[in-house]
Amino acid sequence: MSLTHFRIADSSAPARTSRVTIQTIQDKKSHGTPIVALTAYDYATARLVDEAGVDVILVGDSLAMVVMGYENTLPVTMEEMLLHTRAVRRAVKRAMVVADMPFGSYQVSTADGLANATRFVKESGAQAVKLEGGASRLELVKRLTDAEIPVMAHLGLTPQSVHRMSGYRVQGKSVAAIHHLVKDALALEAAGAFAVVLEGIPTEVAQRITAALHIPTIGIGAGVHCDGQILVLHDLINLSFSDPAKFVRLQPGCAGTQFSRRSGKLSSKQGRDGGSAPGRKRGQAQGIVNAGVENHR
Ligand code: KIV
Repeated sequence: MSLTHFRIADSSAPARTSRVTIQTIQDKKSHGTPIVALTAYDYATARLVDEAGVDVILVGDSLAMVVMGYENTLPVTMEEMLLHTRAVRRAVKRAMVVADMPFGSYQVSTADGLANATRFVKESGAQAVKLEGGASRLELVKRLTDAEIPVMAHLGLTPQSVHRMSGYRVQGKSVAAIHHLVKDALALEAAGAFAVVLEGIPTEVAQRITAALHIPTIGIGAGVHCDGQILVLHDLINLSFSDPAKFVRLQPGCAGTQFSRRSGKLSSKQGRDGGSAPGRKRGQAQGIVNAGVENHR
């Protein structure tokens, strides 16, 4: 684009919505304004979520479970993630679109990770990629940042590590594990990550990491002290066909709610906690509730 090519402002044209950028996200941390993030996987849900005003839309590999019906996130492929990210990108006018790198697309080599992340930016229009892990991802995060691809990191309960973790378990429960998490978060920031998702860790640990970092933390099952929160859309609208997680608030009147009411699930849960919404089929949500990590109410 030529920097000398100016458009003449047309006062009759509708005001353009400015896009959320890394700078917007970082300014929110500086000003103490919460960052709102949700997943979306297709044109229709992405339009709804964007028009609702969320800051970040993650095309999460959770789509393997909530859209495709797999048992965990591992089977979803690059081609499938690209297809969904393109559909989301076509819908979104304001939010930052982040593509989740699927299992196998960056674990084998840094070169693979670089090539696949480049495809997300070039072929699907994603503004950033997200990848899971700490120390073992530092080289890749640095290479991606050097290649102008913004990276959202993801620490704690990382669902792609389900087999290594022996299930979806809350992380950061020992002094050594907490030390490890804080160290990884600082190292990811130094490597160039622009934000870090903290999933399934105790509130106090997330609070400590949030205070230690200059970049924003975005929590899911990590308590109220993160700079922002992210949820899986299907959990929020009760389309996950599973038990509720405490950190998901019921959205009354949505289609999924009606479904659950018919199936008899919602009525019992609503009676107990005054309206929390179902959690994810993947099971980690329930694990977090069982560990009593947090309660947003
Ligand atoms: O895949 C996903 O939806 C995620 C979020 C839960 C952070 O990784």
